[in-house]
Amino acid sequence: MNRKLAIIGAGNMGGALYKRLARAMPKEHIALCDTDAKKLARLSATVSFTNAEDAARFGKCIILAVKPQAFHALAKDLFGSLEKKLVISIMAGISLASLSKTLGAKKIIRAMPNLAIQEGAGVIGWIASSFVTKEENALARKLFSPLGHEIEVKKEEMIDSITALSGSGPAYFFYLVNLLETKARAMGFSESSARIISEHTLIGSAKLLESGKKSAEEWREAVTSKGGTTSAALSHLKEHGFDMLFYEAIDTAKKRAKELQK
Ligand SMILES: NC(=O)c1ccc[n+]([C@@H]2O[C@H](COP(=O)([O-])OP(=O)(O)OC[C@H]3O[C@@H](n4cnc5c(N)ncnc54)[C@H](OP(=O)(O)O)[C@@H]3O)[C@@H](O)[C@H]2O)c1
Repeated sequence: MNRKLAIIGAGNMGGALYKRLARAMPKEHIALCDTDAKKLARLSATVSFTNAEDAARFGKCIILAVKPQAFHALAKDLFGSLEKKLVISIMAGISLASLSKTLGAKKIIRAMPNLAIQEGAGVIGWIASSFVTKEENALARKLFSPLGHEIEVKKEEMIDSITALSGSGPAYFFYLVNLLETKARAMGFSESSARIISEHTLIGSAKLLESGKKSAEEWREAVTSKGGTTSAALSHLKEHGFDMLFYEAIDTAKKRAKELQK
C-alpha cells in the first residue's frame, strides 16, 4: 500500500488498527495521531502527531477513530482540509451525510469493525459515499484485509444491522461464556477450573468452526444425539423462547444504533 495513511485517535480501536496495519504496510506510511502523546509512545508509532491537522496533512487517507462525542470538536479543526482525501470513519452512529456536512468532505467510507480486529479476526461492515472511486474502494478493501473479513453493504441502514450483529456480537459470546462460568462455579468447580471449562468450550468450538469442515448448524447437529443431554438442554432453550429473545435483543441493539444517530 503506497498511499499514506493517518489514523486519528489512538485508543482501543485506533491502537488496534495501527498495530495490524503497521504489519501490512511500511510504518513510515502510517501516521498515528492522539492528543495524548503517551498513547503514541506506548504504540511505538514511527510517525506520530498530537495535532489532527498535521495528521490530516500527512495522510491521503484518513481514518477517524475518536469517540463520537469528540467528533464535533475534531471536525471543527479539520473542516475543509479533507475535500480531496479519502476519509474512513469507524465512529458509531455518525451517518455519511453528517460526516460529509460536518467535515466538508466528499469521499467518505463509513465502517463498523468489531474488537476482534485486534487479532486480525474482525468483521468489518462498510459503505462508501457515491464520490468514492473504484480505486478508493479497492484501497479500502486492501486496508481492511489485515483486520479480518470485510463486508460491503449497499444501504446505510445495514450499518446499523452490522453494529447489532457483529459489532456487539463478541459481547453476546462473552456473555454466554460468563454464564457457563457462573454455572460451573455453582456446580462446585474451582474458579480456575470454571474458567477453563467456559473459555475453552468457546475457543474449542470456534476452532472446530474455523476448520471449515462443517457449518455451525452441522456442528451443532453433530454434538446433539437424539434423546441425549445436549438435545434436552437445547429443547429447553427453544421451548422457553430463547431464539425469539435473542433475535429481539439484536433488534434492540439495532434500534439503539439508530437512536444514537439522532
Ligand atoms: N470499542 C469498540 O468495540 C468499537 C467497535 C466499533 C467502533 N468503535 C468506534 O471506534 C471509535 C473509537 O473508540 P475507542 O473505544 O477506540 O475510543 P477511545 O479508546 O476513547 O479512543 C479515542 C482516542 O481518541 C483521542 N482523541 C479524542 N479527540 C481527539 C482529537 N481531536 N485528536 C486526536 N485524538 C483525539 C482520545 O483521547 P482522550 O481520551 O484524551 O479524549 C482517545 O485516546 C468510537 O467512535 C467507537 O464508536 C468502537
